[in-house]
Amino acid sequence: MNVLLIGSGGREHALAYKISESKSLSKLYIAPGNPGTENLGENVSLNINMSVDVIKFCSQKNIELVVIGPEQPLVDGLTDRLVENGINVFGPSASAARIEGDKVFAKDLMWKYNIPTAAYHTFGVDEQYDAFNHIKVCELPIVIKASGLAAGKGVLICNTREEALQALNTCMVDKKFGTSGEMVVVEEFMTGQEASVFAISDGKDYFLLPAAQDHKRIYDNDEGPNTGGMGAYAPAPIVTDKILKDVEEQVIKPALEAMEKEGNPYKGCLYCGLMLTDQGPKVVEFNCRFGDPETQAILPLLQGDFLSLLYSSAAGKIDKEAVTIKDGSCVTVIAASKGYPDEYEKGLEITGLDEIKDDSIIIFHAGTKRSENKIVTSGGRVLGVSAIKEEADLGKTKTVAYEALNKISFDGIYFRTDIADKAIN
Ligand code: AMP
Ligand code: GLY
Repeated sequence: MNVLLIGSGGREHALAYKISESKSLSKLYIAPGNPGTENLGENVSLNINMSVDVIKFCSQKNIELVVIGPEQPLVDGLTDRLVENGINVFGPSASAARIEGDKVFAKDLMWKYNIPTAAYHTFGVDEQYDAFNHIKVCELPIVIKASGLAAGKGVLICNTREEALQALNTCMVDKKFGTSGEMVVVEEFMTGQEASVFAISDGKDYFLLPAAQDHKRIYDNDEGPNTGGMGAYAPAPIVTDKILKDVEEQVIKPALEAMEKEGNPYKGCLYCGLMLTDQGPKVVEFNCRFGDPETQAILPLLQGDFLSLLYSSAAGKIDKEAVTIKDGSCVTVIAASKGYPDEYEKGLEITGLDEIKDDSIIIFHAGTKRSENKIVTSGGRVLGVSAIKEEADLGKTKTVAYEALNKISFDGIYFRTDIADKAIN
């Protein structure tokens, strides 16, 4: 089949790499893709905000499946527009994507269906007074979240009441997150290790991918501000079989059932961001798509026909035999631009990419672009270096990843040095 993949990040490079291995693929188009996806299919420039353009492209190129990578087009309803025009799509409808795009909706759903999560209160635009009063009395630290999409920046963890007041002001008065911050969730701070579990669902049934652990903070030892994710590894041994079973029974199954009952059947990748607390796993957030960079650490561990798995989700009957999970482990380290997650320079030449000949390494492009015959930086998270080994020993896999990463350079290259250490130590 001909496939159109939408997106341009490291996650989409990983999706393109896995889709391109599938026997069922005829031709892959990536819109817009990046220099890493060039050899896996054809990068095309399409205005994905104009669904008519996407529909026209699908009909011209006989596209049988559209795979949507990022959350924004999902929340905006691109799936709905394509499905209305008879096109198969991997990725939820707008009403199902609310599970990520509307945190108030997600929290209320969890509350109603008894899915473990942090205790919370929600406040609307006209409830600022109540919100300010509430944070005067609730326990510290306080977590304040803009309800809508905020590119990973809408979560503010406040250790003092002053910080919490400031955070509420930022959301509700200064409107730093625009309409996304008009509704806020104020929730209990949870402690524990975090893990990401992805379920590929057809609306009812699902196929589970190996659990991964992301590293959200910019500096080693989880210090500094939050980022999109500085590295990941899979499988995450902290997610034992017992915990995974609990996640299936207490989170995934009830969430899929709830979404169906509420009239928003969930098809696509359900990303469960979890806190493994003393009282068991609790949901930090749901996302309506694959995670970045977890995808770059999970997909190399799959074998079989990944495209068939995605197609079966879109078609409404998940094919649990399409892929199997290999033994072994994968560690992905992100190379970022100096200054990220704040301001950073772009257009810096990247060298050393051709020196990496090791079969156990895949370099996933994210913020890169071609400039004449060079590859230059064009984003905050520039590359993800994934090492895949047949051994479960994450320590060895980590070493291989960093050996490769040390051959790559660009001005101001920055990466964490402790990816996977929580599992290794
Ligand atoms: P989110 O965008 O909702 O995943 O939040 C970003 C990060 O903030 C999470 O990965 C956690 O590290 C942290 N976080 C969010 N909610 C909570 C919470 N209730 N308790 C503790 N940490 C949280
Ligand atoms: N890895 C975090 C995210 O994809 O949201």
